[in-house]
Amino acid sequence: MKLIRDPKKLQQILQKERARGKSVGFIPTMGALHEGHLSLVRASSRENDVTVVSIFVNPTQFGLNEDFSKYPRVLRTDIKMLRTLKADYLFCPSVSAMYPEGYATFVDVSPRLANVLCGKFRPGHFRGVATVVVKLLNITGPCRLYLGAKDFQQVTVISQLVRDLNMKTQVRVMPTVREKDGLAMSSRNRFLSPGERDRALTISRVLFACKKNLLREKMGFVASRRRALSELKRSVERVQYFEIVDPRTLAPVKKYQEKMAVLTACFVGKTRLIDNVIIRNSDK
Ligand code: PAF
Repeated sequence: MKLIRDPKKLQQILQKERARGKSVGFIPTMGALHEGHLSLVRASSRENDVTVVSIFVNPTQFGLNEDFSKYPRVLRTDIKMLRTLKADYLFCPSVSAMYPEGYATFVDVSPRLANVLCGKFRPGHFRGVATVVVKLLNITGPCRLYLGAKDFQQVTVISQLVRDLNMKTQVRVMPTVREKDGLAMSSRNRFLSPGERDRALTISRVLFACKKNLLREKMGFVASRRRALSELKRSVERVQYFEIVDPRTLAPVKKYQEKMAVLTACFVGKTRLIDNVIIRNSDK
């Protein structure tokens, strides 16, 4: 696996790979890799000739009071993990290589997608995500982009931008990888104390219970949401949102439809965690 820090150099190398007829798969990350990321790398090496992983803690997607400076940076461990897989290139640019002096261009996402759910509590977050993802896609030019379903709103925003900006990249969404007890894997889980980790389990438990209540118990939307919120509030410090939405538009759903997403963001101690479950009519 080759470590590359210069955007231009990676762009040239991958141009050559494509000219030789090689397909490129790309996994954007902020590092502190876990099994969720590794499942994306494995999927890419199965489906492409060349796999590129990026590790870049993108400052433009963090708000002023968020955890940009505290975000885990463990490059050596990440490299060791990636070397056990079939990643070909690791791209680790500096902030100044991605946003040089005088940088002026940002990708604006419609408020309908960017200012709801996580975006309501993290103003500017999806503008930063969309901007860095477009830059990374322009640098790597992949046939396939791999994203984890845990970041549901991010997947919706990126899938929409790929469609809207006529990009040729195919977005491949891989299932959330969970610990044996159900906790969704996240780089931020390492911040949880043992007690907080126990309480964090309520999040996945409540999401799956809500799915069951809606599908099997035929409980109404208002009642299932109210029950979920009251259970969550007993275990976590703060529930930012708990919503049942249309997966494509992110608008709240009021009656049963073919596919729905139940999404939540909670603080356990000082750590913000997100998780979701998808409900399909065929799950009945
Ligand atoms: O999901 C992440 O790790 C980040 O939001 C991403 C997609 C790498 C953009 O910085």
